Amino acid sequence: MNLILLGCPGAGKGTQSKLLAQRYGLAHIATGDLFRAQIAQKTALGQKVESYLKSGTLVPDSIVVEMVAGKLGECSSGWLLDGFPRTLEQAQALDKMLKSEGKTIDMVLYLNMDEKAVLARMTTRRSCASCGELYNTISKPPTTEGKCDKCGGELKQRDDDQETTVKKRLMVYEDLTRPLIAYYRSEHAFNEVNGNQPMEKVTGELVAFVDQAKVAR
Ligand code: AP5
Repeated sequence: MNLILLGCPGAGKGTQSKLLAQRYGLAHIATGDLFRAQIAQKTALGQKVESYLKSGTLVPDSIVVEMVAGKLGECSSGWLLDGFPRTLEQAQALDKMLKSEGKTIDMVLYLNMDEKAVLARMTTRRSCASCGELYNTISKPPTTEGKCDKCGGELKQRDDDQETTVKKRLMVYEDLTRPLIAYYRSEHAFNEVNGNQPMEKVTGELVAFVDQAKVAR
């Protein structure tokens, strides 16, 4: 199965994608995580994209599309895209790529989120520097402050989770990514879940939609 999870920054895409990918045996392709790994490893790609992530603006389409094409090429079974596509140009490039390989998108899941609530969520987000597990000091605190429950790694705040950068990211989302909702609603199987609900409720509703898609295949 090939799925896309859409939503504004902080909507819960990463949290839910990890659970869905594990449950359905899908490759989790998260463009933000891929870029952060490249930056941490100080690769040429990491150096090229670092300033975009720091400032909360989008990495140029050509760079993102090339990276995702490489990742999709490595996937023999299904995938779940988290954070891609983010512009109409990226969505069209993905459609072209899939068409040439005779593949399709089975479902687009949209986490609809009150953007006013996002700021509080993101400034309290923490992630494990070793395994990437996500936490939140309010909604999902670790058992021991600053330590990952899973691997004991150090919990860190993302550089782009400062209030001014979050506001910038939300503006970029409104301008460049929100139009994708109409694009996918009209052309693909599209389902919406209220991302303001507790995590388990969001997961349950997403799972119900994916199960429906599985039956329909
Ligand atoms: P990326 O890493 O993709 O960031 P994002 O899309 O802005 O999304 P986030 O990771 O901030 O949020 P999320 O929706 O995953 O929420 P999460 O589950 O963590 O991109 C970063 C940057 O990379 C971009 O700004 C850009 O520069 C570049 N980039 C990436 N992709 C690109 C592309 N395609 N094109 C161009 N540039 C690209 O949850 C947030 C917090 O809330 C966590 O603490 C979590 O525990 C908590 N939480 C989650 N769900 C709930 C809930 N239901 N209730 C309460 N708390 C919750």
